[in-house]
Parts: sequence; structure tokens; C-alpha cells
Amino acid sequence: MRAEVRADYEAALEWVAGDDAFAVRFERFFTELRDPLHTLYGDDDRFALAWDRLLQAIATTAAERPRELRMLDHEREVTPDWLQREQAVGYVTYVDKFAGTLSGVRERLPYLRELGVTYLHLMPLLAARPAPNDGGYAVVDYGAVEPSMGTMDDLAALASDLREAGMALCVDLVLNHVAAEHPWARDPAFLCTFADRAEPDAFERTLPDVFPDTAPGSFSWSEEHRSWIWTTFNTYQWDLDYTNPDVFVAMAEAMLGLARAGVDVLRLDAAPFLWKRLGTNCQNQPEVHELLQAFRAAMRIAAPAVAFKAEAIVAPKDLVPYLGTGKHEGKECDLAYHNVLMVLLWSALASGRVGLMTSTLLAMPTVPPGAGWLTYVRCHDDIGWAITPEDAARVGEDAYLHRRFLADWYAGEFPGSFARGARFQADPRTGEARSSGTCASLAGLESAPDELATELAIRRILLLYAIAFAHGGLPLIYMGDELGLFNDASYLEDPDKADDNRWMHRPAMDWEAAERRHDPDTVEGQLWGGLRRLITARRSTPAIHVQGAVEPVWTGNDHVFGLSRAQAGERLLVLGNFSPTPQPVGLGVLQERGFELTAAAGAVDGRPVEPYHDFVVLAPYQHLWLSG
Ligand code: GLC
Repeated sequence: MRAEVRADYEAALEWVAGDDAFAVRFERFFTELRDPLHTLYGDDDRFALAWDRLLQAIATTAAERPRELRMLDHEREVTPDWLQREQAVGYVTYVDKFAGTLSGVRERLPYLRELGVTYLHLMPLLAARPAPNDGGYAVVDYGAVEPSMGTMDDLAALASDLREAGMALCVDLVLNHVAAEHPWARDPAFLCTFADRAEPDAFERTLPDVFPDTAPGSFSWSEEHRSWIWTTFNTYQWDLDYTNPDVFVAMAEAMLGLARAGVDVLRLDAAPFLWKRLGTNCQNQPEVHELLQAFRAAMRIAAPAVAFKAEAIVAPKDLVPYLGTGKHEGKECDLAYHNVLMVLLWSALASGRVGLMTSTLLAMPTVPPGAGWLTYVRCHDDIGWAITPEDAARVGEDAYLHRRFLADWYAGEFPGSFARGARFQADPRTGEARSSGTCASLAGLESAPDELATELAIRRILLLYAIAFAHGGLPLIYMGDELGLFNDASYLEDPDKADDNRWMHRPAMDWEAAERRHDPDTVEGQLWGGLRRLITARRSTPAIHVQGAVEPVWTGNDHVFGLSRAQAGERLLVLGNFSPTPQPVGLGVLQERGFELTAAAGAVDGRPVEPYHDFVVLAPYQHLWLSG
């Protein structure tokens, strides 16, 4: 140990007295915690006190951890892939929309268990400012649950029930900003403030707008502070100033509080935005990775059972570092959203062609050891058509035109479109937009005029989910997709929501529709049954373990996507027809990789396999699942 590190270490030892497991973790992760904080704050006078407070919070959290959670700490330390196995299936929902309150969620656990869920992400549930609050992403108290949903005790009780049922609990932690009403927002040292427009104007030269339509610009005037305040998102969401070590410690305390309640995974909201630098887009700065490493190390010392998932909707080269690369390898987040896959799935579905998806996924950097993807089809946010000129050029397409096509298609404004979505944050200057809509509405279920169209829409939904389930990583089911819930227009009647059409794809759970899930003659029965088949297939496919290799496969047919996985001698090949017509794939594509075409290949999709001479013919939107 370097001399100055040893001095810090020895001074800190008093915090670990008497707890052997804690002492081991403390020693193991000490420099991972200290080094980034010294890089960021070593010269700051406020650091010494902040550091003491941090160590105290870590030590108290560890000391107060009940026996049940300590056992979990130990178990997960020795099975660090607990989130990445073929058994893992996630479900994402709002507490109020699913079951009213946290106690209500506890009562609905049998439903989730029946579906096969092992990981439950509950959307923001900490006390938020009154609406508008961006769906809870404007927190006023990190130590309290939103009163209408329950209390911290209810959260702990739910976490405990979930553990019993074999499900992990994921909760949002809004790192980048607080509500304007948060007590921290009274202290200018916690905020990025500017006396006049000189600096904001300079920053804005290179800052993209997140909500150009409803919250243009990244700064808002505060009468209280007589300053401009950095507000990346809405004007009432005030960015925190992470150059202040007290901000880091306050947020670490919030994290540790959630660990104490028994939360298993923290979704680190808007992680790329934590550090600002003039002349850049103020995302993905190197300091963000120092901060994440330090948060992670603090958590690993205090409560190692808790995993981190990054919400970083950024380009692949910027995204993979959130999983820990270079000097941060193994030291950052366990999971990150595979936004690229999600966008490409919808792109392939609209165009009926898979070249862009295949070539872009082939160019994806690999995931660092020990980390994994969250694969998903829809979430509570819009779909941003992040297709770059380089991606498009590989298959001879024009990125700008393709992005426009996708926004038109999913708004239902392109000839032949089956989608019933809407444009989000449209930019009239470029004609570009992001897209809103539920999975079912975007996939054509809402617009389906007859049985055949309904059948095709169901197949589309299951095809997208099949790829998300086969890809490797933790697949997420967004609440309502298992029943095909449509867009919900009721947000238009609420003045606090009406200007944000992301609310259209955040419907309330339809428990009446859920009653039909066992009837195969209903839409709900077919979607539920299809997802259940996928979950079962995934569970019996060890090749899906995230540490295996994933490889997109050129199938020789631009309408059929191929994805192969291999892990410790186990192999999987999934083929998916993204077009509304039958499509052949040469049997050679299978044989070259050592796969035999058997009737079982069609079992996951629920339709027979049709060989024709030297081809296998996939029905419209059919997917085949071959194990080897
Ligand atoms: C994340 C959330 C999004 C929210 C934003 C600001 O991107 O997913 O819903 O608007 O952060 O908190």
C-alpha cells in the first residue's frame, strides 16, 4: 500500500473494529473507494469532514444490517452472477398503477410468481414534489417513500416478501438532480448556480436538449438564489453539483438507506449527466466513472448484496464503460440497459429487414467480465432513434432518413404502418422525433382490424421478446406487455401530464384483462402463454448465461435475424422472421454451426417447423429456437 494510502487506511480502521467480514471487505475495497474520491476531491477543504461522514455511514449500515441481509451479502459475494443467469426474468412497473400501494404490490406477488419473475423494478417510489414531478423523478426526501404509496417500513416488508418469493427488488435512485423543493436545494453549494448568462450560454453551445419541446435549454432562473440553476431535465429538477464532496456523501447516504431497507438493485437514473465540462455535451465525462466507482465501493463495503444498474442511454462506445472498463473494470455497474438492441428491434420490425440490426450488433463492444445487459422491448420512456451515420452506412442506408422513417412509422403516419404511437419531443427544424406508445400499440395490436392482423401483432410482440430473452443478460417485461395493454389517453385530462406523451405508454394495470390470461382463445392468453414459453425455454438454456458469447448471424435472408449464443459447450441459435411473409433460410446456415432442425425448434414460438427442400421456412414473424 502506498504510504499516503496506508495513513488514511489506518486512520479509518477504527470504523471496522469487531466485525471480521466487514474488515475483510473494507480492506479489499478501501483503495477502490479512496482513490477516485482523492482524484475528485483531494484538494478540497471540505473533503476531510465529508470522508469521515462517509465512513461512518458505511460502518453504521454494515453494523445495522440484519442477519438475513448479511447472509445474502455473503451468498452474493460468492455468486456474483446472480443477476445474469438463464433463470433471471425481470418485470418493471409503477407501484400505483400496478397495485395502488406497496402493500398492494405484496398482495399481487402471486401474479408475478406465476409469470416467472425473479426481479421486480418498481418505478420511482421515494417522496417526490407534488405533480408535475416527471413520474417521481423529482425527489424531495430520499429517506421516505411517497406517502400515497406507503412508508419505508412497507418497503422493507415488501423487500422481505420478495426475497422469500425468490425475487430481487430494484428501486430508482435519482442521482443527477433533486426536486427544486428538496432541502438540499436550499444550499447553493449543492447546486450548479450562475450569477449571469455568460457561463450557461457558453455551456449551451455544446449541450443537447433532453426535452427540447417542453423544457428547452439546460438552465432555469431561480428567484430564491438570484441565479441561473443547471436543470438538465425539467425546470423543477435541479442538477446537483458533484464537484462538492458533501453532495457525494449525501447521495451515498441515500443509497445506503435503501440498502438498509433491503433493496437489492439500485437503478442509477441519468448517470451520464453527473459531471459537467465546458465545450462538451456534459455526458459520460471521466469523472462520472470515478464517482460511480466510489459509490460502488462504498456499497460493496457496507452491503455487498446490492447491485448497481446504470441508466445510460448513450452510444455503445460511451455505454460499455458504465459496466466498468479499463481501470474501472469490475468496479462500476453490474447491469446497463441495452438501448441499442431495443432500438434495432423496433427498427427491424418497421422495415422488415434485419441488416442494420445484424451489422450494428456485430460492431458492439463486448461486455466486460462480470457485467451484463438488461435487455428490453419497451420501458416507461420514449424510444430515441439512436441510429448513427456509421451504423447506417454499413448497410448502405441513410441514418437521417431512416430515423425519420421510424418516427413516422411508429406515429402511424407512414403508408402501411401498423403502429399507433406518437411523436415525442418532435423537432420541427429537422423533422426528427422520438416515439411513444405501448408495445402492443406500436406492434399493431391496437390498429388490428381483424383476427389475422391481431394474430400478426401478437407474433410481432413475441418475436421482439424472443430476441430480448435469447440475447443474454437480464430480460425485462414492461408491465402490461404480457397482456397487450394499449396506449392510455387518460393522461391528456391531467394538466400536469398532458404535455408529456410518455404517459400514454404508462397505463394502469388491467386486472380484468389479467383474468383472461389462462384462456388461449384470448389475446391475453396468447401473449401470456407465449411469454411463459419463452421463460421456460430460457430457463432450460444454459447458453443464455451472460458470460457466454453472443453473435449475430447473417442468415442469407435480409428478413430473418439470427443470433447465436455459446457458453461452456452449450449452444443456442435463434432465428426470427421480421417480415409479414414466409421466409426461407438455407439449412446450411444451421448445419455450418452444427445445429439440426427438429420439431422442438418451433415449440417456443408454438408453430410447427416447415422444412422445404434445403430450406427451413419461417412463417410471418415466426421465431425458431435451436439448441445444440
Ligand atoms: C431518466 C428517466 C426518465 C426521466 C429522466 C430524468 O432518463 O428514465 O423518465 O425523465 O431520467 O430523471
